[in-house]
Amino acid sequence: MEAALTQPAVRGKRILSGIQPTGAPHIGNYFGAIRQYVDLHHENDGFYFVANYHALTTVRDAETMTRQSLDVALDLLACGLDPARATVFLQSDIPEVMELTWILTCVTPMGLLERCHAYKDKVSQGLPADHGLFAYPVLMAADILAYDSDYVPVGQDQKQHLEVTRDIATRLNYAFGQEILKLPEPYIMPQVATVPGLDGRKMSKSYGNDIGIFEDDASVKRKIMRVVTDSTPVEDPKDPSTCNAFQLFALFATEEERAEMERRYREGGVGYGEVKKQTIELFHRLLDPLRERRRALERDPDFVRDVLRQGAKRARGHAAEVLERARTACGMPRL
Ligand code: ADP
Ligand code: TRP
Repeated sequence: MEAALTQPAVRGKRILSGIQPTGAPHIGNYFGAIRQYVDLHHENDGFYFVANYHALTTVRDAETMTRQSLDVALDLLACGLDPARATVFLQSDIPEVMELTWILTCVTPMGLLERCHAYKDKVSQGLPADHGLFAYPVLMAADILAYDSDYVPVGQDQKQHLEVTRDIATRLNYAFGQEILKLPEPYIMPQVATVPGLDGRKMSKSYGNDIGIFEDDASVKRKIMRVVTDSTPVEDPKDPSTCNAFQLFALFATEEERAEMERRYREGGVGYGEVKKQTIELFHRLLDPLRERRRALERDPDFVRDVLRQGAKRARGHAAEVLERARTACGMPRL
């Protein structure tokens, strides 16, 4: 059904990723990250968590935090994670990660964090940044390193954080003279590393240019019809590589559908209205089963809580082992 994706086959590995509960996930999250979570969890040990401590850098309301956290967990299950196979949990249920964060903090140079884009962008806009935003990449490193993760499926915007994670792990291993932490690899799909939003910039909740995976039909239609295009007449040839409407279409199309549309673009005779209407149909073809599953899951709120409880139990067991290794290496064994 979907366009073929190229990445080396990964089997029998620990896959880990996190997503912040900062709002409803969009198709940039889906193609850039969540679809890889699902694809990889069948033949690997998938650990996926709701990064609520990271969201605390922006969400300042308890009720919103709780609701959004449970919602994101539900979204992940609706997207196809099988709770019998994947370990799905809340970051805040794993206190070992916080303890590991401090150990990592002590080997993290200030300069490394000063170069990280979230903090740098805020400071360059003259906005006040708090310590949480500055230290954010160290917490993310602990999230990853606490489970001996092999691969971390993310979008391109998280690549820098993966480099920082590897750097910090190397420093701890070097400082204490042993292989304490395992170095993870990013898992980034080149074609969908940065999914564009309605206005052509990176799709992001914070830019308001996103289309939600679970958004209602009318608003999906309205948004896709609103995608920014130029004013080339229908009959003129067009360049698909610079067209936002084509990029969106291509996400949902099969290889053949994409090639056919590309040919019609170059020949001329296809209008943006037609491309957008087809995109709406393809959106529903791919995502309606997920949307249906979400409606079914919503009817049983206890289910998601149970999944998260079980997930936390399993994840804690692994994090405790890694933390013990790190504590012992630093000279802090349990007496
Ligand atoms: P947002 O930028 O909308 O707040 P998040 O930070 O919650 O999204 O991202 C969750 C995951 O989705 C991360 O792995 C991130 O790299 C990926 N992601 C977010 N936006 C995009 C995008 N436009 N294209 C590809 N991947 C994305
Ligand atoms: N920083 C990630 C984001 O904004 C979320 C995240 C937190 C994460 N911890 C992680 C992603 C560990 C991968 C692995 O999208």
